[in-house]
Amino acid sequence: MALLKVYNLSVFWLLCMILVASNFCNGGITNSFVRKEYSLDMPLDSDVFQVPPGYNAPQQVHITQGDTDGRGVIISWITPDEPGSNTVIYWSENSKHKNRAEGIFVRYKFFNYTSGYIHHCTIKKLEYNTKYIYEIGIGNTTRQFRFMTPPRAGPDVPYTFGLIGDLGQTHDSNVTLTRYESNPKKGQTVLFLGDLSYSNDYPFHDNSRWDTWGRFIERNAAFQPWIWTVGNHELDFAPELEETTPFKPYTHRYYVPYASSDSTSPLWYSIKRASAYIIVLSSYSAYGKSTPQYKWLRDELPKVDRSETPWLIVLMHCPIYNSNAHHYMEGETMRVVFESWFVKYKVDAVFAGHVHSYERSKRISNIAYNIVNGKCTPVNDQSAPVYITIGDGGNHDGPAIGMVEPQPNFSAYREASFGHGIFDIKNRTHAYFSWHRNQDGYAIEADSFWFHNRYWNPFGKSFVASY
Ligand SMILES: [Fe+2]
Repeated sequence: MALLKVYNLSVFWLLCMILVASNFCNGGITNSFVRKEYSLDMPLDSDVFQVPPGYNAPQQVHITQGDTDGRGVIISWITPDEPGSNTVIYWSENSKHKNRAEGIFVRYKFFNYTSGYIHHCTIKKLEYNTKYIYEIGIGNTTRQFRFMTPPRAGPDVPYTFGLIGDLGQTHDSNVTLTRYESNPKKGQTVLFLGDLSYSNDYPFHDNSRWDTWGRFIERNAAFQPWIWTVGNHELDFAPELEETTPFKPYTHRYYVPYASSDSTSPLWYSIKRASAYIIVLSSYSAYGKSTPQYKWLRDELPKVDRSETPWLIVLMHCPIYNSNAHHYMEGETMRVVFESWFVKYKVDAVFAGHVHSYERSKRISNIAYNIVNGKCTPVNDQSAPVYITIGDGGNHDGPAIGMVEPQPNFSAYREASFGHGIFDIKNRTHAYFSWHRNQDGYAIEADSFWFHNRYWNPFGKSFVASY
């Protein structure tokens, strides 16, 4: 009997030790806060989808950066009935002199859908840090908008980016956008992490849902640039409909300044904006050795001058560190190809979407493995970026609740809620990231992290503090 007691006690302590050890091995925080199951798309008669009044009035107005340096803007809009005018009239707030720029229009067909007239007009050589007003349309359908150009690139220029991914067009998408607009930390530019309209989930990829999405985001995207990253929902590859040109609707509707960064494809490119150098990658284009994207990134990373743009940020759709059961390991092939470069060039942050959830990693890398040495576990690495998954914009695809358990060591915080992020650059050494859950008050930060720049804080004390 006594022997049995000793045996039971031993088993008890053994279990305790295993429990303690497993806790020690675990990563960071898994917040059990879970949003409701599915969110429905807003109906077609929703006010956010309203067509502007007047025959052939410009709609779906959106802007993005139009060159590498931030002195250019691409203005895009759609006229539904006929080509109308390609002209943009624009002037700076402090000037009475009005300028004209001429754009182009394109159209496309997708199965039984024919697009409206999609206008793109690039205006260049704008003054830095200046408010501009612009007008498009004809006669009584003329519409007027405004935007602010960024400050000239420089090492200590503060700038605030918003981060939105996988937005879709549900009631929750609308909440996410409203909350981004209402956040007291005013985002000046949106870094969009892919998966825009989700129209491919409709029968025949109903492209009229691209149009509703364009009208939905206009209230923000006509006034501040959205920097586009491509996601899997933009592929629109449908051989059953004889539609075999990938990204056809997306590449007609959303122009980006890829040529000015020597890219040969709109799916990967770079821009400078204030103190940030932003590299946009495509998870759904070839990136293996010798492919165009591989060669472009290989040649692009050494060009980044951290004394001009200290903050090196990479955007992609599919995360390469993800401990959600949804899309688990999907980013592994890109990690194998690109991660060592991210570490070598001291990328500060890699933002991704795709997983409809939020996750922030520790600074880790997994580049030591060489097939035979067994070093296949991520390790602490202060030259590595922080990986943030923020594919929680509110789309209709349902929750990404299941997590890989126990929480891996690389994962600092994860939660299956909808929300958006803010990356607030203070100077060359410090940037403050915050994640804002949709259910909270506007100013509440559900998660936050002080970024200490990888180039300007080489292994100082701040590295410990930032970890
Ligand atoms: Fe996705």
